[in-house]
Amino acid sequence: MSEPSLCIKVKKIHGEKTLVLANKLGISNRELKIHQNADNICIPLVRRPDENELAKLKTQLPDFELATQVFTKKKQQRKTLHQVLENQLPPHLLATLPRALDVIGDIAVIEISPELKAHESLIGEAILKTHKNVRTALAKVGAVTGTYRLRKFEVIAGEHRTNTVHKEHGCQYQVDVATAYFSPRLSHEHNRVASIVQKSETVVDLFAGVGPFAVLIAKKNADAKVYAVDINPEAVELLKRNIRLNRVDNRVIPILGDARQAVENQLSGVADRVIMNLPEKALEFVDAACKAVKPAGGTVHYYAFIRLPDSLENAQLRFSEAVEKAGRKVDVFLSAKTIRETAPYECQIVLDAKIL
Ligand SMILES: C[S@@+](CC[C@H](N)C(=O)[O-])C[C@H]1O[C@@H](n2cnc3c(N)ncnc32)[C@H](O)[C@@H]1O
Repeated sequence: MSEPSLCIKVKKIHGEKTLVLANKLGISNRELKIHQNADNICIPLVRRPDENELAKLKTQLPDFELATQVFTKKKQQRKTLHQVLENQLPPHLLATLPRALDVIGDIAVIEISPELKAHESLIGEAILKTHKNVRTALAKVGAVTGTYRLRKFEVIAGEHRTNTVHKEHGCQYQVDVATAYFSPRLSHEHNRVASIVQKSETVVDLFAGVGPFAVLIAKKNADAKVYAVDINPEAVELLKRNIRLNRVDNRVIPILGDARQAVENQLSGVADRVIMNLPEKALEFVDAACKAVKPAGGTVHYYAFIRLPDSLENAQLRFSEAVEKAGRKVDVFLSAKTIRETAPYECQIVLDAKIL
């Protein structure tokens, strides 16, 4: 869409200076795109400058002209959550609004501080307004707890549900955040691990959830086979659906049960690669991971939390000791890094270890 508008026309070399001045005077029209040709630049105006403003323009830009030009409209920028709430919440409350929220499919999840609790519906509606694909806004209630690693949620706006379909790296996942763990914050890790799996590998995902490692690995590697274990029946139900949804049947084998038990029963010595994504308790399962690794060796992706002053080096030491206790040996750490901050002074780490 185009429209004619009054503008300041200057030689191109004075373009930036003119724009700064027009912005400072509050007369530039930010909804229209700046127009330029080989010699000149035209800055659209919201109104004719008054005498005072004209005097300032003349002093700083001796050869400027007021002209009329046809301008193209800029695409309407969606307002951010903070911008929408800026006139509805006092500044001290606005400052406590988290900068980031998680979007899982068409559900947005936000952490609401106790001070903001009274305004949660307002915040929820603002989330729907600023995120055009979001249909439900959920507030986190409490921390992630229990064996299934779940937390409670409260619907603060939109449709009353906790299930959705989330897309990640070309796969689709049926997710229900109230009944099975899922975090979009691990998206990079899901893809990183899936990208280093080699042709024809057998992978054991000991804590598979709804399948974001297992399904992606099978999708990316036509010859790979993945055993995906989880103790939460709801997670395994969703995992089964996700296996069908992404057409990786027969190559991702879902197993409902305890990881250690599953290795004892059917996964001893089968794995080229083991994924251990249960950061709170992974150390307790290193023996099971070692048992799943083929006698000739394999790679283990070990996730853990560390709290300062603890360090990556200490985590490596603890892991190596647990591997030795299980009768195996860490040949080399292929990688050791922090992947995200999870709380003040706490972060999640991943160790990629070659086990012999
Ligand atoms: C942090 S979640 C990770 C899920 C998934 N890997 C992901 O990236 O979304 C850990 C999962 O381990 C499962 N879990 C907890 N204890 C387990 C056990 N002893 N054996 C098997 N699965 C277990 C939980 O039910 C949960 O789904």
